[in-house]
Amino acid sequence: MKISVSFLSSKNEVSDLLKLNGTDCDFIHVDVMDKKFVKNKNLPFKLLDYHQNVYHRKRLDVHLMVEDPEIFIKKYIRLNTECITFHVEVKKDIDYLIDLIHKHNIKAGLSIKPNTDIYSIEPFIDKIDQVLLMSVEPGKGGQEFMKSTVQRIKELKELIGSRDVKISVDGGVNKESRKYLDDADILVSGSYIINSDNYQERIDSLR
Ligand code: DX5
Ligand code: ZN
Repeated sequence: MKISVSFLSSKNEVSDLLKLNGTDCDFIHVDVMDKKFVKNKNLPFKLLDYHQNVYHRKRLDVHLMVEDPEIFIKKYIRLNTECITFHVEVKKDIDYLIDLIHKHNIKAGLSIKPNTDIYSIEPFIDKIDQVLLMSVEPGKGGQEFMKSTVQRIKELKELIGSRDVKISVDGGVNKESRKYLDDADILVSGSYIINSDNYQERIDSLR
């Protein structure tokens, strides 16, 4: 299981990013919020750009919770980015945005909110590299894992079939919810890791 760590709940981002560098986590999950698509704002680009030398060993897994992904895609393609994911609910040209990400040799993902039909991603399934299935309502860290996610992972797996599209689960991932998540490829976890005093131990418990 791959582990992507969200530092959204961090109170000291620079030192926590440094600590994550010392673990074997696979990615740093970057939550970007514009206060329009979700009600909070989180724009960590400057921090990440400035401190590239600090976290350069870890690739970024960027999660855009924004109404207009294009502006942010153009920023994050400049960093050490593995994948950029935006929401299927945005009222934008999704094909164009996927192509824009791919043009820069970065993986493209689509994210689905808990109440959005899984089949909304079907028209794009042959073009994307990952689906980021939200297991909480996007907007803040530290929320409880929604059990309905378990059934949604099953549906998503069926829809993906034999395609090479990874399933990433985001929100409320901890030792407890981990029991239901064997079918995922990547787990995003924030507060469970960041609010602990042993990051590596918590990462190990999710593998
Ligand atoms: C929610 C974010 C998640 C979240 C994960 O809007 O997309 O990445 O911060 O944090 P935890 O693990 O605390 O739910
Ligand atoms: Zn996220």
